[in-house]
Amino acid sequence: MANRFENKTVIVTGGAGGIGDAICRRFASEGAFVWVADSNAAAAEALAASIRDAGGQADIGALDLCDANAIHDFVAEITNAGQTIDVLCNNAGINRRGALMELTPQDWSLSFKVNVDAIFHMCQAVVPHMQRQGGGAIVNTASQWGLHPAPGHIAYNTTKAAVAAFTQNLARDYAKDKIRVNAVCPGEVRTPMLESNLARTGRSLEELNALVPYGRIGEPEEVAALVAFLASDEAPYLCGSLIEITGSQAVA
Ligand SMILES: NC(=O)c1ccc[n+]([C@@H]2O[C@H](COP(=O)([O-])OP(=O)(O)OC[C@H]3O[C@@H](n4cnc5c(N)ncnc54)[C@H](O)[C@@H]3O)[C@@H](O)[C@H]2O)c1
Repeated sequence: MANRFENKTVIVTGGAGGIGDAICRRFASEGAFVWVADSNAAAAEALAASIRDAGGQADIGALDLCDANAIHDFVAEITNAGQTIDVLCNNAGINRRGALMELTPQDWSLSFKVNVDAIFHMCQAVVPHMQRQGGGAIVNTASQWGLHPAPGHIAYNTTKAAVAAFTQNLARDYAKDKIRVNAVCPGEVRTPMLESNLARTGRSLEELNALVPYGRIGEPEEVAALVAFLASDEAPYLCGSLIEITGSQAVA
């Protein structure tokens, strides 16, 4: 595999989750120093240890992304140690399911805190460093549902639409500083969370796969490959793009 991220430092929020795990492993396998930023400290540490065991470089930031001060402290810890921040992957997200009347105000506000506000705070902490360094790449994990809403997920879909809009705005404002900002918009991806949800609803993976023209839902590694491409020097003119990765599945 190419070493596109040798001597580069990458932050991955939600790094201990299904897609985040694959993103962290992908960057580490290409030479990056990876910071696994997640509130699940045990899972983050297990992943970082597994990356180090495989010969890669990783450490953790065990933090709650709802805490803006914790975000700024975490980024300061990295830069005070003399590391650059070359890539920021705002990947953490939660999915509070339900139509309007099925949601509590707490569901709504937590969805915005984790899915949107945390990206604002993380970017405020990181962008000045990227400006001083002469550039960087930010890849946000939005969702296909932020562009084409699936029914019964109004909080999730609205936050992901906000992530898409935020991505385009940030890209326009900082392209002049050679900070490229893009978003991936996955359809259904086979993560532990999705599989446990299948168990809850009684649907099978085969049923879900049959809905996708490509024949199956996505794999976390496929999203990770796209994230790494967008963050790499192979994509110098991709800036402000929202890339769907869906196996051609339409939202129904
Ligand atoms: N799985 C899918 O089918 C799918 C499809 C489209 C988009 N996405 C998006 O991909 C991203 C990753 O999803 P996933 O399926 O890997 O989810 P996941 O639940 O497996 O992982 C999310 C991670 O974020 C962390 N996290 C949540 N809240 C946090 C907080 N307040 N502070 C710090 N960490 C926090 C969790 O601990 C977890 O490790 C999300 O933004 C999600 O919306 C997922």
